[in-house]
Amino acid sequence: MILRKKQPLRSFQKEIIGLNKKVPLVSGKYARYINLDNAASTPALKSVVGEVMDFLEWYSSVHRGTGYKSVLSTKVYDEAHETVAQFVGADMSNNTVIFVKNTTEAINKLANRLDFNKRDIVITTQMEHHSNDLPWRKKAKTLYIGVDNRGSLLLDDLEDKLKNCGNRVRIVAVSGASNVTGHVNNIYKIAEMAHHHGAELLVDAAQLVPHRPVDILPNDDPRHIDYIAFSAHKMYAPFGTGVLIGPTATFARGAPDYAGGGTIETVSLEDIQWAPPPERDEAGTPNLIGALALVAAIKVLQKIGMERIYKHEKRLTSYALGRLKEVNNIIIYGDEDLSRQDRVGVITFNLKGINHALVAAVLSYEGGIAVRNGCFCAHPYVHHLLKLNKKQIYESQKKILMKKKQNLPGMVRISFGLYNTFRDIDTLISLLKYIEQKIEHYKNSYCLNLEEGSYYPVTITKSPWQNIL
Ligand code: ALA
Repeated sequence: MILRKKQPLRSFQKEIIGLNKKVPLVSGKYARYINLDNAASTPALKSVVGEVMDFLEWYSSVHRGTGYKSVLSTKVYDEAHETVAQFVGADMSNNTVIFVKNTTEAINKLANRLDFNKRDIVITTQMEHHSNDLPWRKKAKTLYIGVDNRGSLLLDDLEDKLKNCGNRVRIVAVSGASNVTGHVNNIYKIAEMAHHHGAELLVDAAQLVPHRPVDILPNDDPRHIDYIAFSAHKMYAPFGTGVLIGPTATFARGAPDYAGGGTIETVSLEDIQWAPPPERDEAGTPNLIGALALVAAIKVLQKIGMERIYKHEKRLTSYALGRLKEVNNIIIYGDEDLSRQDRVGVITFNLKGINHALVAAVLSYEGGIAVRNGCFCAHPYVHHLLKLNKKQIYESQKKILMKKKQNLPGMVRISFGLYNTFRDIDTLISLLKYIEQKIEHYKNSYCLNLEEGSYYPVTITKSPWQNIL
């Protein structure tokens, strides 16, 4: 791909694979697919796939062979660590970049690799994706920083917890941006607070790194982000790679969570000498193609400019928040005042009187608009935003376990990527307004699959959709 720096952002749309793909509607007609589910996964970039295809003729084993292709593959893989480090400002003289499968695996790895003792405490937050909550629960006493009514993090609560725990807090683990409200946390302030109390900071940056410039700052800066995790499949490079970056010293200690090929210097029947980082923590044959794809995506993102992506997505978010208010009976979650609460392009809402699963189904079957609905792997946060009491939470959990998934709590989520347009938002708003006017019609023309909790049009068997269901 030839990129000129001053190209308008929309000219990069042609770099998105499948952008204008037509998808079937339940009517049998076809519509342009509008992807408003980028917080889950972004589509791939053409140049990423192009670089993967070009490299495959050279592809061979990494860290293992003597052949030319093997040596080249090893070089490409090793250098990918450096490119990724540079992208987030990590100093490779004292940090290590570990390639994993995704952000979830990255955080699990860190939780497994920190040698917790019985007194250690982890402070995470009530707004986390389960991936930045559950891995900590099994390792140490876990405390949760609260959020206010709008879902913003209470930094005073963090300060109180840090003070009350003395020197027992080992790590503070927060999301850079929420996958539910898009709220961006002040990670530099949190870093200062954590460091002041002798704790380290992990930022789950899965929803942050694809959307704005991120710099983890030098290790001796009090605002330094000690550990950062993110996923390539949210960065236009869906080839199975995630990233964990942290101090080399952490990963030079102790045994890795996965042991095996590539993780050792020497092995005898009596003894193991572990390899230095990052090899110690990249067991088995590494995902060279995933790493190469991520580097290719980073090159495009840098060429476009993360600042431009940030500004474009900010405009989309502001426009969408404004236009959503035109829809009658809409409830928007999170803080809508962008001057008070910084946000990435993630917005959740409900239409009163109609379940989120039905709204999401109608958007897809009638409009070709892709969203996500439910609780987004962040159940405690969504319960809080929906103001559910303990009994309501218990009732909904019971329904899920009994596979009677009717009227479950949840929301509809839209989330933007660099290629989304104002027109995408206009199309969404028109359909939402229509759904709101025709609630009874849609309730009668869709049926619920109780086990899955999703809705289907009653006429689905007569539509092209039947081939994929
Ligand atoms: N964590 C991703 C999401 O929020 C999958 O959809």
